[in-house]
Amino acid sequence: MNNLIIKTEGLAKVFKETTYGGLKQKTIVALDNLHCEVFQGEVFAFLGPNGAGKTTTIKLLTRLIFPTRGRVWLFGKENVDHTAMKKVGYLPEQPNLYGYLTGKEFLNFIAQIFGLDKQVRRKRIDVLIERVGLSERVMHLIRNYSRGMVQRLGLAQALINDPSLLILDEPMASLDPVGRKDFRDLILELKNQGKTIFFSSHILSDAEMIADRIGILNRGKLVSVGKLDDLSHSQTQPVEVTFIVDSSQISQIDLVKENVIVQGNRVLVRLDDKEALSSLLRQIDKWGGRLESIIPQRKSLEDYFMTEVRK
Ligand SMILES: Nc1ncnc2c1ncn2[C@@H]1O[C@H](COP(=O)(O)OP(=O)(O)OP(=O)(O)O)[C@@H](O)[C@H]1O
Ligand SMILES: [Mg+2]
Repeated sequence: MNNLIIKTEGLAKVFKETTYGGLKQKTIVALDNLHCEVFQGEVFAFLGPNGAGKTTTIKLLTRLIFPTRGRVWLFGKENVDHTAMKKVGYLPEQPNLYGYLTGKEFLNFIAQIFGLDKQVRRKRIDVLIERVGLSERVMHLIRNYSRGMVQRLGLAQALINDPSLLILDEPMASLDPVGRKDFRDLILELKNQGKTIFFSSHILSDAEMIADRIGILNRGKLVSVGKLDDLSHSQTQPVEVTFIVDSSQISQIDLVKENVIVQGNRVLVRLDDKEALSSLLRQIDKWGGRLESIIPQRKSLEDYFMTEVRK
């Protein structure tokens, strides 16, 4: 399929670690048999707890490390050399940028590596500096930047070659709420231009707001992948029921085993799934209660993530 931008097949990475002065060798399966596909124009969020294998995957995609097993295709071609990287923008997990350069010098340096000519370079750098909100500090040395400023500069360098595919490792780390909002807007703008974005994150709510699809990685294994709505609908859906009953009936309510909050005559019950709803409604009727509301609780990405990771 020609709109397949990233494809991995059985991708695996095993690290060997030598301890006790070379006496013992431990193996760490950082990534285990990853099958993954990302299509053109998609925003794909790669989520997982610390040590899940997100950075390992990203380094495999960008050929910074090599797989123990499995294969990678970028833009429909097997990723056997660095040629595909010309069309990729990459933001590493902890951008370690040259501290003795100013932000502008650094961007110019990266643009030169990509072979952009002077006119294009100047124009693009100015646009990007403005876009990532670094105008005030771009003539200052990077070593005096705050972490968020480094992150913004890292994002600008990832965009310098006008990439078709962006691979971003924790792009929202160190950004303040305004920076995160700017970042989300930027990602959606890039998506509208037809670009493909693959990013890893811990910030689930941000992923929820911009990702078309998410993949959840846990201990090196992709435990689920899909649209958030599809993923969370496959789970049971909790509901919150509020009703009013006569105070004489309140003592009976501990019969309901689920989460209950009582405030005066008003009772709120959180049920884990809709199955329990009809029996509660019958109970309320028996108590002579008055139903106030039934509100389905959409499972947030956070709930879903926690369930998957705890499994
Ligand atoms: N060079 C290495 N040598 C040995 N083990 C490594 C190496 N790089 C990564 N690992 C191990 O591989 C596993 C996955 O690490 P990785 O950095 O990919 O996780 P991550 O999902 O990016 O985590 P985080 O959210 O903390 O960034 C971890 O157990 C890590 O310790
Ligand atoms: Mg990481």
